[in-house]
Amino acid sequence: MSEPQIDWEALAAAAIEVRKRAYAPYSKFFVGAALAAGGRTFVGANVENASFGLTICAERAAVTAAVAAGMTRLEGIVVCTDAAPAPPSSPCGACRQVLRELAADPTTFRVLAVSPDGQRREWRLSELLPDSFSGAELP
Ligand code: THU
Repeated sequence: MSEPQIDWEALAAAAIEVRKRAYAPYSKFFVGAALAAGGRTFVGANVENASFGLTICAERAAVTAAVAAGMTRLEGIVVCTDAAPAPPSSPCGACRQVLRELAADPTTFRVLAVSPDGQRREWRLSELLPDSFSGAELP
């Protein structure tokens, strides 16, 4: 499949901006995510809860926004976290699996991790979740 056409600078700006609205009073780890699909951008931020296990990650919040808008072939994502003490974070395992479910093609779907101070890391989804499980394995 051909590489999706994505304005990565605009997508990164959206992830940096939506991170400001993350609700993370417990961890204080604020995460913003911006997904590209069909030329459009869908954003999400992490939403924590006093019952910690109910926390929703930024990436999955963005996925639900995209699906609610009718998009089920996702093309790429930018995740924004602080770069201190570690470099910009990659998506957690649960989010990788959810992205894999709806990625148009995990081998062309890029995951870009950014921090507000300009650090960046990048992977293909297929690198972050190799030999992944998918609906193709179900009867
Ligand atoms: N978090 C995300 O939003 N995305 C990830 O991929 C990893 C973790 C959030 C969940 C929680 O609110 C905070 O970061 C600390 O784990």
